[in-house]
Amino acid sequence: MMLHIQEIPAQDAPMALLLLADPSEDKIRAYLPGSRCFVASNGAEMVAACVVKPLGGGCHELMSIAVPPTHQKQGHGAALLQWVIAFFRKADAHQLEVGTGSFGYQLAFYQRYGFRVSSIERDFFVNNYPLPIIEDGIALLDMLRLTLQYPRQA
Ligand SMILES: CC(C)(COP(=O)(O)OP(=O)(O)OC[C@H]1O[C@@H](n2cnc3c(N)ncnc32)[C@H](O)[C@@H]1OP(=O)(O)O)[C@@H](O)C(=O)NCCC(=O)NCCS
Repeated sequence: MMLHIQEIPAQDAPMALLLLADPSEDKIRAYLPGSRCFVASNGAEMVAACVVKPLGGGCHELMSIAVPPTHQKQGHGAALLQWVIAFFRKADAHQLEVGTGSFGYQLAFYQRYGFRVSSIERDFFVNNYPLPIIEDGIALLDMLRLTLQYPRQA
């Protein structure tokens, strides 16, 4: 299926969708200003969205990426992720990073497209969220930081 992917103003970011990736609306509202939002549509509806925050020095952080449950596992998340990776490559970025839980399918999702584990922040989800975040019946505790490094252009 052909997707139309485009950047939209961060203030128009689809909050309900982003909450699937980050359960804290306060945190999303805090990082939206200064971030960039990219959305994918199938012509009829929005099927994926993500937010990327510049960290400086050519580094950018994928703050959240989400696909509505009814559209998951159809390749839309992968299509948007690959588009965003290519977008920042063209923009001469040095690296793209993302923080994610220490288990679950998301780890494979990112690593399939070139992200590698670069560090671990123990108890990140305990210390930064008021309520436990449960995935696969297990509370998320530690955050893995994954980094995709772009080869330096000659
Ligand atoms: C993570 C997410 C963006 C992936 O988008 P998606 O469109 O569902 O994923 P894709 O269809 O592009 O799948 C890519 C791969 O991810 C894996 N995957 C995606 N959803 C999965 C699920 N629910 N269970 C197991 N594997 C899954 C599959 O391995 C798939 O590979 P395959 O095609 O070989 O089966 C989406 O599932 C989502 O919104 N999840 C909830 C929010 C979230 O966790 N965001 C990331 C925060 S770190």
